[in-house]
Amino acid sequence: MSKFVVQPIDRLEGEISVSGAKNAVLPLMAAVLLTDKPCVIHNVPNLKDVNVMIEILKVIGAKVEIKGNSLSIHVPEIMSNEAPYQYVSQMRSSFDVMGPLLARTGVARVPMPGGCAIGERPIDLHIKGFKALGAEVEFGHGFVEARAKKLVGANIYLDFPSVGATKNIMMAATMAEGVTIIENAAREPEITDLANFLRKIGAKITGVGTDTIKVTGVSEFSGTEHITMSDRIEAGTFLIMSAMHNSNVLVKNVVESHLKPVIAKLRECGVQVETEGDDVRVISSGKLKAVDITTLPYPGFPTDLQAPFMSLLTIAEGQSVIMETVFENRFTHVPELNRMGANIKIEGHSAVIKGSTKLQGADVRATDLRAGAAMVLAALVADCETSIHDIYHIDRGYYNLEEKLKGLGVEIKRIQD
Ligand code: UD1
Repeated sequence: MSKFVVQPIDRLEGEISVSGAKNAVLPLMAAVLLTDKPCVIHNVPNLKDVNVMIEILKVIGAKVEIKGNSLSIHVPEIMSNEAPYQYVSQMRSSFDVMGPLLARTGVARVPMPGGCAIGERPIDLHIKGFKALGAEVEFGHGFVEARAKKLVGANIYLDFPSVGATKNIMMAATMAEGVTIIENAAREPEITDLANFLRKIGAKITGVGTDTIKVTGVSEFSGTEHITMSDRIEAGTFLIMSAMHNSNVLVKNVVESHLKPVIAKLRECGVQVETEGDDVRVISSGKLKAVDITTLPYPGFPTDLQAPFMSLLTIAEGQSVIMETVFENRFTHVPELNRMGANIKIEGHSAVIKGSTKLQGADVRATDLRAGAAMVLAALVADCETSIHDIYHIDRGYYNLEEKLKGLGVEIKRIQD
């Protein structure tokens, strides 16, 4: 186990770059299972979750080569229809392989992803979609097994615009006979990125980015090259971090349109945020006003930036309320922030934050990936050194974080606990 030891910093100035998106690259890698032709994915962040997905793909039959930030993946033959428990238990997004495996071979066996740090996270909507396409789905011995002699297009209405279910059903439907319509589909940019990749290998998909996606089945796919979209959550984390300081920071490789609600809230707090081509500049005095936030599916405020924004609101002037509507239990960072002197109360699905706190350096835990990022942001404005334990969570989603922060003058050390 490692920890970060972080020193506070007064002013942030310089440039920081955003890497390829974790939440886009994982489904892209799973989607390669659809084709027996080689594919190359570029702008791949070297993250723990990416390595877990590589191991799963290798067991299934993929030949994987890593060259810098590019991954060549070739799955000439499916050697196993089963994703191994040892990897799936480490990463919920392993469930992304279910749809493509089912489409390509008619059989997919994947361990139940189980709960995780941010709540129960069911898979009922994925299963509903597979069944609608004609698969028989069974649960037993900790596995979900889907089988279908032939998948047939269907109309599927999602009770909630789940990102995971939309991706999985879209991938399964690419080879189904006829037309599939997914209604109340998720509209996240990572789904658009996946659909762009699928189109390049030959899938027929329209309506991505809207709540109705239409997939017309095809029987064969080619290979392709694809550049992973830039990580909007990493970008948002850096924008929020910059706003918390007296700063002038250029965050590079940002798709500004992916971050509209976050940028709007930063401006409401009194921060200057300007787009400069593919980059976004944040100029802040570090003196911030309280704002209220409600997390929502895209294009609403992203739940993944709820924890980092809460760190910001602890130092803003006034009282803020954050309502979390996407996940059941996503306030595990609250007790950690309170250990640093924050004044946050949880009331049902809301957190009430009394601002103007001078946070205190302390020993705290990264309770999940984004909660971990929130602790780093809090540590940078604390009165003295903070140790953040359990940073394996942070390593799942922030590529090269220490080096990137050091580029802004931050003193951060990784220490074996
Ligand atoms: C993805 C992201 C995650 C982000 C989340 C919401 C990846 C790897 N992860 O997670 O970072 O926080 O989107 O933007 O891309 N639900 C059901 N039944 C299902 C599936 C989901 O009830 O079958 C519920 C979940 O419990 C949750 C909500 O739907 O309350 C959203 O989940 P979903 O959009 O599926 O998130 P993930 O794809 O798991």
